[in-house]
Amino acid sequence: MIPMACRRRVQCIPPSKSPPSKLGGDFVDLWPIVQKWVAQVSLTLTADTDRASRVTLNGAIMLDILRHQIEYYRARAPEYDDWFYRRDRYGHGEAHTRRWQREIQRVRDRLYRVSDLGHILELAPGTGIWTAELIQIGERVSALDASPEMIAINRAKLGSERVDYQLVDLFRYQPARQYDMVFFGFWLSHVPADKLPRFLKTVHDALKPGGRLFLVDSRAVDLAKNRTGTANLGADLQRRALKDGRQFDIVKVYYDPAALTETLRAHGFDIEVEETENFFIYADGRKRA
Ligand SMILES: C[S@@+](CC[C@H](N)C(=O)[O-])C[C@H]1O[C@@H](n2cnc3c(N)ncnc32)[C@H](O)[C@@H]1O
Repeated sequence: MIPMACRRRVQCIPPSKSPPSKLGGDFVDLWPIVQKWVAQVSLTLTADTDRASRVTLNGAIMLDILRHQIEYYRARAPEYDDWFYRRDRYGHGEAHTRRWQREIQRVRDRLYRVSDLGHILELAPGTGIWTAELIQIGERVSALDASPEMIAINRAKLGSERVDYQLVDLFRYQPARQYDMVFFGFWLSHVPADKLPRFLKTVHDALKPGGRLFLVDSRAVDLAKNRTGTANLGADLQRRALKDGRQFDIVKVYYDPAALTETLRAHGFDIEVEETENFFIYADGRKRA
């Protein structure tokens, strides 16, 4: 049977229950050991650094998950805002929406503590939920996303000449200049653990000494009551479903605030990660001068 993780968007090589027919002799005896190894090990293949190719706990080899993550957000762009505004499948009643909005407001208040910034770099801006805030606190925003659909919605919503957009794969990105602030919302959780050090170095390179770093992301959620088809697959992977039923497997890392604080500090930032009561983690700090 094809493992769950192989059925849809992710290209998989399912583990075989019997040895390849051409092999014989000693290798046949070794086959149970090979199977056990494939079933247990979880590692990222580094031969092609553009690909996050994984051997997962269920033995499926998943190729190109980061490319599929881009495809997922390209396809999700028209319905993305339902999540943030708690509409449709994401609605859990008025009390829940009020809690969500109150916690977002806490993050927003923190963001507005400094509001005379120059040039802000926003990574993975999506439909512009935060771009709209950033343009209030900075003179210019450069917004870098890998989805043309997200960029089109963002541009149409904001219509601002003070925002420039670039179609960029952040796993290949090298900043050509330094900014007064770097912001990313709900992006860090999509960076696989093995790519985090390089990503944080990129952020560090992109900031002027003393420049501001602000991030907001998700706290781990109880998926028991979700009506969106989201399921945790283990190994920092999640299955997501669009309204039309199409499924995608993506990276989703939930961070412990203390551990993430330590990691960010080790990468040259004076920062502390905080959390709201239910939904979010956020951090507001600076690149060490
Ligand atoms: C969860 S959304 C966050 C959007 C926005 N920051 C927000 O808070 O609403 C993730 C965004 O990352 C973008 N993305 C996914 N993979 C990417 C990649 N490799 N490089 C750049 N952007 C990527 C998606 O297109 C999407 O806009």
